[in-house]
Amino acid sequence: MGKAQQIYMGQPRNLVCDAVTFVLLVCLGFLVIGLLSPAKNSSFLQFERFRIKPSNTYNMTIYRDELDEALAKASTPHKTVIIAIVNKAYVEGDKSMLDLFLDGFWLGDDTRRLLNHLLIVAADQTSFERCKFLHLHCYKLKTEGVEFAGEKIYMSDDFIKMMWRRTSFLGTVLKFGYSFVFTDTDVLWLRNPFPVLSQDESIDLQISTDSFNGNQSSESNLINTGFYMIKSNEKSIKLFDAWYARKGGSAGLKEQDVLLNMMREGLFKTLGLRVRFLDTLYFSGFCQDSRDVRNVSTVHANCCRSIGAKVTDLTSVVHDWKRFKNSGANETAKFAWSRHTACEDSWRH
Ligand SMILES: *[C@@H]1O[C@H](CO)[C@@H](O)[C@H](O)[C@H]1NC(C)=O
Ligand SMILES: *[C@@H]1O[C@H](CO)[C@@H](O)[C@H](O)[C@H]1NC(C)=O
Ligand SMILES: *[C@@H]1O[C@H](CO)[C@@H](O)[C@H](O)[C@H]1NC(C)=O
Ligand SMILES: *[C@@H]1O[C@H](CO)[C@@H](O)[C@H](O)[C@H]1NC(C)=O
Repeated sequence: MGKAQQIYMGQPRNLVCDAVTFVLLVCLGFLVIGLLSPAKNSSFLQFERFRIKPSNTYNMTIYRDELDEALAKASTPHKTVIIAIVNKAYVEGDKSMLDLFLDGFWLGDDTRRLLNHLLIVAADQTSFERCKFLHLHCYKLKTEGVEFAGEKIYMSDDFIKMMWRRTSFLGTVLKFGYSFVFTDTDVLWLRNPFPVLSQDESIDLQISTDSFNGNQSSESNLINTGFYMIKSNEKSIKLFDAWYARKGGSAGLKEQDVLLNMMREGLFKTLGLRVRFLDTLYFSGFCQDSRDVRNVSTVHANCCRSIGAKVTDLTSVVHDWKRFKNSGANETAKFAWSRHTACEDSWRH
C-alpha cells in the first residue's frame, strides 16, 4: 500500500477537502483553456449559443460556426456548393461507391476542378475519416445516439429515416444562404454539368428525372432527388420546410415520393417556385439511358436496389466512357451503353 493512500485512509476529512480542491482546479483549468482557445474552434464555448435544434430532426445537432465554415470553404464565389452525403457503407469495400464517384470527377471532362466545391457530408465517423483521408471538404453530421453507418436497403425503415435526415440538413444549408447542387454518390459526373444547367436566374429548382417526357416545364415528369440544383431563397426554404413537415404523415413513403405528391398537389405553383425538369439526354440514369453519350453530363445508378449492384454497373459505365473517349468518330456513332444487368437482377428476391 502506497504512502499517500495510507495517509488518506487515516484522515478521511482531508480526503474530502482534497477532492473538492481537485475538482475546483480542474474547473479552473477548463475555464482557462476555454478562454484562451480561439472561439472558432471551441465547441466548449459555442455549445449553448450556436446550437440549432430544429424540432423533430432525428436528433441532429448542428453547430452554426462549424457548418458555416465547412460551407464557406467549399463554396464558389456565388455561394454555391456541391453536396454529397455518405455513410460507412459508401466508403467501404474493394472499390467503394465514394471511390467510384471520385473516379468520375477524375475521368470526366472539365470536372476535376469541381472537387474544390464538393462538400462531403458524413453520417458517421468512418465515412468522415475516409473523407478527411482523401483531403476533400468534409462535414460530419452529428446525431445523438444514432449513427447511420450500415447499408440502407432501398425502402427499409432506416433508409427512409436517413433520407429524411438528409432533407432536414439540406433545408438548413438553404437557410444559411447557400445554393447547392445535391448529388447522390451513385451519380458519375462525366462532364461539367453547369454549362447545361440553366443560367436563368428566375429558375429556383432544376431536378433530374427518372424518365423525361420531352417537356422541361411539365410536372408530369417523374422526378428523382438524386441530383438537383436549388437556389437559396425564400421560396426554396419554404419548399424544404413544407417537405420536411410531411415526414410524420408519410409512413412508408420516401422523401422523393413525398416531393412528387406535393408537386402533383400544386405546391410548386402555390409557392411560385420555378422548376425545370432535367432531360435524361444530359442527366442520364439506369431508368432511362441518355440516347447520346456525346451530350451526357451525369449518369445516375437509379432503378437499382443495392450498393453492390450499383458499383458493378457504374464500373461498366466507367468502361463505356473510357471506350467512348478512346474511339474515333466512326465508332462513336455506334456507341451503346452496357446493359445494367446487376441492377436489373437486384430487384429479384
Ligand atoms: C432521439 O432521442 C431520443 C432521446 O434521446 C430517443 O428516444 C429517440 O429514439 C431518438 N430519435 C431518433 C430518431 O433517433
Ligand atoms: C409543357 O408543359 C407546360 C406545363 O405543363 C405547358 O404549359 C406547355 O404547354 C408544355 N409545352 C409543350 C410544348 O407541350
Ligand atoms: C449533343 O452533342 C453533339 C456533339 O457535341 C452536338 O453536336 C449536339 O448539338 C448536342 N445535342 C444537343 C441536343 O445538345
Ligand atoms: C469511317 O467510316 C468510313 C466509311 O464507313 C471510312 O471511309 C472511314 O475511313 C472511317 N474513318 C475512320 C477514322 O475509321
